[in-house]
Amino acid sequence: LIHLLSTEGLPKSILTQILDTASNFVSVGHREVKKVPLLRGKSVFNLFFENSTRTRTTFEIAAKRLSADVINLDIAKSSASKGESLLDTIANLSAMAADIFVVRHSESGAPYLIAQHVAPHVHVVNAGDGRHAHPTQGLLDMYTIRHYKGDFANLTVAIVGDVLHSRVARSDIHALTTLGCAEVRVVGPKTLVPSDMAQMGVRVCHTLEEGIKDCDVVIMLRLQNERMSGALLPSSQEFFKSFGLTPTKLQLAKPDAIVMHPGPINRGVEIDSAVVDGGQSVILPQVTFGIAVRMAVMSIVAGNEA
Ligand code: CP
Repeated sequence: LIHLLSTEGLPKSILTQILDTASNFVSVGHREVKKVPLLRGKSVFNLFFENSTRTRTTFEIAAKRLSADVINLDIAKSSASKGESLLDTIANLSAMAADIFVVRHSESGAPYLIAQHVAPHVHVVNAGDGRHAHPTQGLLDMYTIRHYKGDFANLTVAIVGDVLHSRVARSDIHALTTLGCAEVRVVGPKTLVPSDMAQMGVRVCHTLEEGIKDCDVVIMLRLQNERMSGALLPSSQEFFKSFGLTPTKLQLAKPDAIVMHPGPINRGVEIDSAVVDGGQSVILPQVTFGIAVRMAVMSIVAGNEA
């Protein structure tokens, strides 16, 4: 693996290698975390052209735990604001001996463009591009599901909400189907479910009740208002009434179902606070597992030989 741009097309063996590697980096309680030298002498450049709390921070923690030097480019204060192009920015940062570019961009495909132009020893990790892909979120979601539920072969996973604008949904679907998940459902109003879902091997449900019935895992998605306009934009109240996950509706899933959400959460829009903070929520463990998964990805693409 040279770059990580998408979970689409990644074979099961690579997905499993990443999850198994991540399990070596997970520790219970932050005091027990040890640094490892796998990226000693290497430089990781975090390039977040779109805002982030979880992904940017956990990539920084992950790179530091791998002993890398970490550079967080402040895009708002960079010369991108003076019109410097994406590829000129990359060329100049490459001249500072970058080894890994972690890239988030509002344009789908931006990390691919960068990957086509960097030197062969430089690695690109997609930290979310437009509505296309968010592979490390997909991988940390797989880690979380495997941690709580074990083998994918017997699982029913429901992905609920604004699937149309969700790069997380696409990355999750590709990973879940490759890992042999028994049933993947996407659940949402017709306006927010893309037309190619059936071809992706998932079941489409247009009511929350049908979508989460007897499922093992419920992944809730945020309404991506920043990617919507006009007719697509449902009111928060309407959306919550039909597709908001409440404790009562969650009872339709299996009693031991887990509830996930990539964050950021809009409480009271796609999910009730009582579910976010309830006993079935694994939303904060997802964030913690994200560190180990990102350590695994960076060590696999660019790690020093043992
Ligand atoms: N899940 C996720 O990508 O969150 P951030 O936008 O905060 O990174």
